[in-house]
Amino acid sequence: MPRLPSQVTLSAVAFILWTAAQAASKEAPAGPGDACLSCHEKLAKGTVVHPPVKNGLCLGCHEPASDKQHAFGFRAEGKQMCRQCHAPRDTQKVLHNPVTEGLCLFCHDPHSSDHHVRLRKNIFDTCTQCHPSKRIQDRTSLTRHGALDPERNKLVCVACHDPHQSDHPKRLKDWPPMNVCFTCHDKPQETQDGEVMNMKAWVDSHEKLELRHGPVREGLCNECHEPHGTDNWRILKRPFPPEFYWPYRQDLTYALCFGCHDQRLIESEKIAEKAANNEDPAKDLAWGKRPEGDRLIRIGVTGFRNGEENLHFKHANKVDKGRTCRDCHDFHASPNVKHIRDSTRFGNWEYRLNYQRTVSGGSCWPGCHVERRYDRVAKKENPR
Ligand code: HEC
Ligand code: HEC
Ligand code: HEC
Ligand code: HEC
Ligand code: HEC
Ligand code: HEC
Ligand code: HEC
Ligand code: HEC
Ligand code: HEC
Ligand code: HEC
Repeated sequence: MPRLPSQVTLSAVAFILWTAAQAASKEAPAGPGDACLSCHEKLAKGTVVHPPVKNGLCLGCHEPASDKQHAFGFRAEGKQMCRQCHAPRDTQKVLHNPVTEGLCLFCHDPHSSDHHVRLRKNIFDTCTQCHPSKRIQDRTSLTRHGALDPERNKLVCVACHDPHQSDHPKRLKDWPPMNVCFTCHDKPQETQDGEVMNMKAWVDSHEKLELRHGPVREGLCNECHEPHGTDNWRILKRPFPPEFYWPYRQDLTYALCFGCHDQRLIESEKIAEKAANNEDPAKDLAWGKRPEGDRLIRIGVTGFRNGEENLHFKHANKVDKGRTCRDCHDFHASPNVKHIRDSTRFGNWEYRLNYQRTVSGGSCWPGCHVERRYDRVAKKENPR
């Protein structure tokens, strides 16, 4: 639970000292005075000046308290002061606690500052003083997200979140979250290890929703990626291997996929269940019970099998050169059923999988071996 930092009281003390120091330079008039900026020019020194300050409309906020002394009260308190000229910012579905509490001045300076929209601090510091966990996450994570780097995104947090209010969960600026991602991922982006593709163009090119993987279909990129940065490759929420070959270790290697899918998929070498045809892809994949929570599983554990031999096990469950899910599937979108790729990358070599489906099986003829076929009902013999 974020809380107000103790700086609030500290800066109040500093403020009184600083006001006293100001007093030394020029005598205060006996009364409100006029041409306020002639003595208070420092208030308009920042690069971002509030228009009423620039225009000398000081009395829009300050109310003279005496004819004889230079003393002032405020025309209104809290958000009411701002509402004299600005529309309310607590009318939408998802509000922000400091805004509804009227703490506009915790973030904004009323006169001028050197930061965007006259913030008292830069955006990153403005937000992280109350949300310190995000700061820790970003400063120490192995994979940082360019979206939080002020050099690459000057709006930092508020590129994705509205600081005041919105109609979407977590006060995102748009919904589903994918729309927010696509404001930047509508072009390739340079990362520490090379360029990442234009994901918007790729997803958009698969217009039929069933060609998009479940969570992408719903626009929930954040089911797999952590927008604030993580210790995993590609800011993934859970581990997924970065290379073509990867040794299989239970609970570690594909934790990302097995958050939703059932890991029996690659763990049972021989499948005891009776052969099933799995003709209807929509009906096949159902929620199965697991001690750690329900997971998606197909009737007969997996359809990728030759007779009773589990081909997921065969390809991926190895102590050394296990093939990763990425070698065959594209879990963003792909032109084929079961999200099978057209082609895959091995080092700098991009080769076609030539995957074909039959009613009860399929075949492929990739760069790495001759054509091999599988059938769930009548096991196929393949050349060795
Ligand atoms: C001739 C110079 C001069 C002019 C003109 C002047 N001020 Fe000041 N003002 C000062 C000085 C010096 C102080 C600090 C002395 C003090 O604490 O009373 C001060 C203090 C203040 C304060 C802080 C004290 C408080 O009671 O909140 C406010 C607010 C303020 N001025 C507003 C204004 C406004 C608004 C105007 C124009 C209508 C204005 N001043 C015109 C010199 C001036
Ligand atoms: C949008 C409302 C608003 C306007 C317009 C505004 N002020 Fe202020 N002023 C405040 C608030 C609120 C404070 C209390 C300190 C704070 O929150 O930073 C303040 C504080 C001050 C202070 C005391 C200390 C300080 O921060 O320097 C002075 C002096 C002052 N204002 C003068 C002026 C003058 C002169 C103008 C016009 C040129 C002006 N203000 C215009 C809201 C306003
Ligand atoms: C006397 C009228 C008036 C009051 C009172 C007032 N504002 Fe403004 N404010 C304006 C005008 C005019 C603009 C420029 C037009 C716009 O951007 O909407 C502006 C712009 C802004 C901006 C845009 C950033 C910038 O400076 O260009 C922010 C942020 C802002 N005001 C915050 C506040 C806050 C916070 C308060 C309450 C402390 C407040 N305003 C009170 C008149 C006012
Ligand atoms: C948590 C910090 C925070 C608080 C509290 C806050 N703001 Fe802002 N405000 C921001 C940030 C950050 C931006 C810049 C948003 C952007 O550029 O997308 C902004 C932008 C603005 C703008 C200019 C853009 C716009 O939305 O019109 C105005 C005006 C404004 N704020 C007024 C207010 C008022 C009035 C309050 C109190 C009711 C308030 N703010 C409270 C952080 C805050
Ligand atoms: C003055 C302290 C304060 C500041 C500054 C602040 N926040 Fe918050 N924020 C809160 C509080 C309090 C909550 C409500 C906490 C809760 O419900 O867990 C909140 C909630 C949020 C939430 C929604 C969390 C949820 O679960 O729905 C987001 C997103 C958020 N803030 C982002 C920001 C951003 C971006 C900034 C900078 C523009 C910012 N905050 C600045 C105090 C602050
Ligand atoms: C690239 C877009 C993006 C940026 C930039 C971003 N966020 Fe978020 N933020 C999100 C999304 C999406 C969620 C929903 C989280 C989820 O589902 O995992 C979120 C959730 C949150 C939450 C709610 C708590 C939680 O984990 O659910 C807070 C608080 C928050 N962000 C604060 C911040 C702060 C502070 C910054 C800047 C330091 C920031 N965000 C930058 C996209 C972003
Ligand atoms: C404001 C712009 C912006 C937004 C919005 C944004 N990104 Fe990014 N993203 C970047 C930039 C810049 C990079 C390249 C720098 C980096 O992070 O490596 C990047 C990199 C990435 C990477 C590769 C990270 C790596 O280093 O390997 C992934 C994955 C990613 N973004 C996913 C997302 C997702 C998911 C969302 C929506 C929740 C999103 N991005 C929203 C700007 C953005
Ligand atoms: C099911 C989990 C999952 C979902 C949902 C997901 N991603 Fe990814 N994403 C990954 C994995 C795993 C990688 C790394 C392997 C790869 O590049 O294929 C990745 C890689 C990326 C990359 C880098 C691609 C490259 O060129 O190397 C970007 C950019 C990206 N995702 C953005 C998004 C966006 C935007 C969304 C939402 C439309 C999204 N992701 C949804 C799992 C997911
Ligand atoms: C957030 C939950 C979630 C995560 C994480 C997830 N998936 Fe999925 N996956 C689904 C849902 C829901 C479906 C069913 C809709 C569909 O066919 O895309 C699905 C379907 C699939 C299918 C097609 C199944 C069929 O019978 O048509 C494949 C292949 C697949 N996922 C692979 C993966 C891989 C590989 C990963 C890890 C990178 C992964 N998934 C991570 C939710 C998830
Ligand atoms: C060598 C290629 C290959 C690899 C590696 C691979 N798959 Fe598959 N996968 C397939 C094929 C082919 C199918 C389609 C089976 C059918 O329906 O005929 C499939 C089907 C699926 C399905 C649909 C349900 C089912 O089991 O039939 C899911 C979910 C899935 N794979 C997830 C994964 C995950 C998670 C990984 C990584 C741990 C992975 N796959 C690795 C080729 C592969």
